[in-house]
Amino acid sequence: MSQRKILVTSALPYANGPLHMGHLVEYIQTDIWVRFQKLSGNQCTYVCADDAHGTAISLHAEKQGISPEESVARINIERIRDFGEFHVAFDNYHSTHSQENRKLSEAIYLALKEKGHIVSRNIIQAYDPEKQMFLADRYIKGDCPKCGASGQYGDNCEACGATYSPAELKNARSAISGAAPVDKESEHFFFKLSDFADFLKQWTRSGTISEEIANKLAEWLDAGLQDWDISRDAPYFGFEIPGETGKYFYVWLDAPIGYMAAFENLCQRRDDLNFDEYWQKDSQCEVHHFIGKDIVNFHCLFWPAMLHGTNYRTPTRVNVHGYLTVNGEKMSKSRGTFITARTYLEHLDPEYLRYYYAAKLSNRIDDLDLNTDDFIQRVNSDLVGKVVNIASRNAGFINKRFGGRLSSDNSAPELTADFQEAAQRIAGHYEGREFGKAMREIMALADKANAWIDEVKPWVVAKEQGKDQILHDICSTGINLFRLLMIYLKPVLPAMTVKAEAFLNVAPLTWQDSQTLLLDHNVNKFEPLMTRVEADKVASMIEASKEVLAQMESSNKPAETSAVSSEWLEQDPVADEITFDDFARVDLRIARIVNAELVEGAGKLLRLTLDIGEPEPRNVFAGIKSAYAPEALVGKHTVMVANLAPRKMKFGVSEGMVLAAGPGGKDLWILEPHEGAQPGMRVM
Ligand code: 2FM
Ligand code: ZN
Repeated sequence: MSQRKILVTSALPYANGPLHMGHLVEYIQTDIWVRFQKLSGNQCTYVCADDAHGTAISLHAEKQGISPEESVARINIERIRDFGEFHVAFDNYHSTHSQENRKLSEAIYLALKEKGHIVSRNIIQAYDPEKQMFLADRYIKGDCPKCGASGQYGDNCEACGATYSPAELKNARSAISGAAPVDKESEHFFFKLSDFADFLKQWTRSGTISEEIANKLAEWLDAGLQDWDISRDAPYFGFEIPGETGKYFYVWLDAPIGYMAAFENLCQRRDDLNFDEYWQKDSQCEVHHFIGKDIVNFHCLFWPAMLHGTNYRTPTRVNVHGYLTVNGEKMSKSRGTFITARTYLEHLDPEYLRYYYAAKLSNRIDDLDLNTDDFIQRVNSDLVGKVVNIASRNAGFINKRFGGRLSSDNSAPELTADFQEAAQRIAGHYEGREFGKAMREIMALADKANAWIDEVKPWVVAKEQGKDQILHDICSTGINLFRLLMIYLKPVLPAMTVKAEAFLNVAPLTWQDSQTLLLDHNVNKFEPLMTRVEADKVASMIEASKEVLAQMESSNKPAETSAVSSEWLEQDPVADEITFDDFARVDLRIARIVNAELVEGAGKLLRLTLDIGEPEPRNVFAGIKSAYAPEALVGKHTVMVANLAPRKMKFGVSEGMVLAAGPGGKDLWILEPHEGAQPGMRVM
């Protein structure tokens, strides 16, 4: 078969938080598919990028007191490390906030505009008068119009399940500043998706997506397509729309173009890759996207329409997967099942998860359940109990009795032929994203191999006189069966395969190698390939996740948990100029810290008791736990804002705000010169 040229992408993760188990379903799935293609000899290129634009990203940066660029750069470093340790091997990991993406986004927009597919009109939207920005639905909070539950976001109530328009919320407030939103008019730009209705009806039924998804899309297509709002007003972290002032591309306009940009960036340093060859209208190359079911409309309506409208090729296939549940439920912060990639890596081997996900993945959009008991059981029984066992049952004899040399004869030719014939079926499962079927097929082979070894009993033969040749052939056959299984598992278990290749003393295995055997060949000393999953490590990972989440919680929803960080959130990195009168309204006082203690359930907060010379001490929650142990604070002085309106939080009322300086985390100082606060540091 001729070599296919395949470009593969996973959805670009938003650069506003850590990777978690849910993300990994997609990246591991894609990586397995890519590794399978490469192993089969195809030219397969896997690109991804940080999805860097939009309000969520700039707010995340602002909360840390840094620029969005800086925040994206920090997250990028963590990401690349996490992906690497999970063996997710991108050929390029780029960013949507890149020159390539700006150029392509502008060109695509201008081409669509030129062809009359862009229109503009004024719309009325909620506006935060304090923060001076328009508010997306999810940044509006208020009381449910049905049941009255307070603190409900956007357009649905978590308490009673009612759905409504954000305008119906009672006591609506901006979740960013707390101000009451007002209606404001502004000009927006729209992509006329309906111009592409006929094209999309045909495209969605042309084998590019599963029937399941095509049926879902048909509901939208039949109902009539709405224009898509692709602009956002300043302030917005993104690309300014060419020819307009203060108007930016909506993050979802430039995000999928980020796939092309990541590829173009790679082409600049790879002579064997050519951008136009992959993206021109009649390209013979393939483009495969892997995405979650929540973003199907962006990838199967807007995106192909944008490409078609600008004379680019459209995707060969959009592969859609379901969500992750843990122990049968949505990932839960309180149950500790919201597990970040980092927390997992601190406790467990990444290949356990790769195998477990593979064993449970299909090409349908059903949700995938990570059941922790099943996880332990399945990894131990399949990988350690079945696969590794085949090697360890035979390697000892080969090394001790035969000087590490495999014999030239096969004592189970039929079984071996079975194993080799399976290559094609297993390849079919990988190609069709039926990884669960592939794993079942491989484990059925492993069962057969173990049953055969049980039958021929090398440990008995080893004790019999004059049976050396038989023993040698049995064990050599066992090692060969193990080698075939490792070829089939290589896309899923790249690190274990490297160890197996070292033991087998062979060059990196390819799919084609399944049609040959190792005869008359020296192998190396057998080292353990994988250890069992220990239940207590899984338990400590869950415990650690509760802690990690408590910390994220207190930094992500500051209004509910931390007076200090909510002030950070509302403050611009460099505050606007104020008048002397504004300043005079702030009552800054030196305070003595009389007591400091931990707050149960709050990751970042300490409860401080402050003496400011009034008869009653003040109670203030301060987000400085990362910098100070409570006992280290007692007796120290700090500056506090004494006339800040009391704020009710989950843990009690905070009666003021403590000032500290520094970038955050461990580097945060109250105002004592020897502690590290330096003149000129912004006081937050
Ligand atoms: O849903 C998300 O997480 C988006 N950041 C995915 C973007 S995929 C692509 F279009 F860029
Ligand atoms: Zn309600």
